[in-house]
Amino acid sequence: MRLRDNASRCRDILRKVLTQRHELRTNQFTITMKTIIEPFRIKVVEPIRLTTPQQREAIIQKARLNVFSIRARDVLIDLLTDSGTSAMSSEQWSAMMHGDESYAGSESFFRLYDQVQEMTGFEHILPTHQGRASERILFDLLGSAGKVVPNNSHFDTTRANIERTGAAAVDLVIDEGYDPQSRHPFKGNMDLGKFEALIERVGADRIPLCMLTVTNNSGGGQPVSMKNIREVHDVCRTHQIPFFLDACRFAENAYFIQQREPGYADRSVTSIVHEMFDLSDGATISAKKDGLVNIGGLLLLRDAALAQQARNNLILTEGFPTYGGLAGRDLDALAQGFREVLDEHYLDYRIRSIAYLGEKLIEHGVPILEPPGGHAIYLDAKRLCPHIEPLQFPAQAITIGLYRIAGIRAVEIGSVMFGNDDTPADMELVRLAIPRRVYTQSHIDYVIEAIIELFAKRHELRGIRIVDAPPALRHFTATFEEI
Ligand code: F0G
Repeated sequence: MRLRDNASRCRDILRKVLTQRHELRTNQFTITMKTIIEPFRIKVVEPIRLTTPQQREAIIQKARLNVFSIRARDVLIDLLTDSGTSAMSSEQWSAMMHGDESYAGSESFFRLYDQVQEMTGFEHILPTHQGRASERILFDLLGSAGKVVPNNSHFDTTRANIERTGAAAVDLVIDEGYDPQSRHPFKGNMDLGKFEALIERVGADRIPLCMLTVTNNSGGGQPVSMKNIREVHDVCRTHQIPFFLDACRFAENAYFIQQREPGYADRSVTSIVHEMFDLSDGATISAKKDGLVNIGGLLLLRDAALAQQARNNLILTEGFPTYGGLAGRDLDALAQGFREVLDEHYLDYRIRSIAYLGEKLIEHGVPILEPPGGHAIYLDAKRLCPHIEPLQFPAQAITIGLYRIAGIRAVEIGSVMFGNDDTPADMELVRLAIPRRVYTQSHIDYVIEAIIELFAKRHELRGIRIVDAPPALRHFTATFEEI
């Protein structure tokens, strides 16, 4: 008896010593991480090209002051978009080798289907070649003259796809969403009062669906809270209005919910993503963002009859429902991309590195849309260039200036994109969208330096006039001159 007691006491002591030694070891080798390190190392590199100021001047003139017309090889740091510009992982590239290119019943489709079903709970999963194809199919079915589609803020292709059916696209984001200096944690939220007033005014039967864009790209990449998603869902339920997510950046939105919303700190991003989708009747997704792929989209639906109609449209315009405008290998890369985007170390790096860019600019007095968004930093052109009238496109002037000074390509999100000949947009912004897993901290430090230098010379920037523009989506192809 005593022998056994002694033996167990010895074991306890030994365990204690070993644990202490382990603690000592981990303490010795653990540091509190302050630097945001990229949670990957680089296996393949793509050279980028420095140009001289004289070369850039010739290039921007040839592009008629529209950065969309510049050849990518003439850009040093390309922050035009975070869409389709992600670096894929070695796992994604190897998944592509498993691509099953069968016309019907491809295994790649079923691998994607299983991943998306597990992640979202949706039964009807239609692949498309990109987000706007999902939008076109959805609004071909649900939009028509006299209908009204509310959203927090419609993205430009969503708005264009709604308007081409004759329906109206209405933005109902909270007032803070229009105030670049408001630090509201969920500036992408929809204003429920505005939504209910719209239902009251036009009648629920004229609203074929209500959308929420997560995160709200046109409003600065700002998140929508779970509380707001639930409340919008509840109003929709009361009035029998289908509720859809424009879920391009669902993982970034879920991460913000985990970080900022009471009650979610201990929840995994995966479970938050599931909860977001559980509340919706459908979703359009451009997989070119949080799918971590270069091409792809999805249309998710709960209603079987609507899904059947959508599949018929898909076959006519995109492809058979088990590939929908994509190669089998694209479907495999996407299935893997959706797994990787839910990695919380990746999301932590992603959101913190964008905040780093934003906070550094704020430190130097550069006015940006606050707080920093999920995929981009937006310069506030109204405050940066108060000497340029909104209809003389201050954000376009900054975009041109940034290319001239540093070979950086950003994009105007202001009156060129959302205004017309006599009405300016609500905000004049320059978006610096950060491609996923592409640039390192030194690239971002260079961007910071360039913007600080441009800020010091802001008084030299001049207003811009449109020379020529198409009737819709004019920012892509318009030509400009300086006033
Ligand atoms: N919805 C949102 C919120 C978007 O940001 C985009 C694309 C789309 C839909 C359309 O998806 O490009 O795959 O057809 N945004 C890109 C951007 C183009 O630069 O923000 P798509």
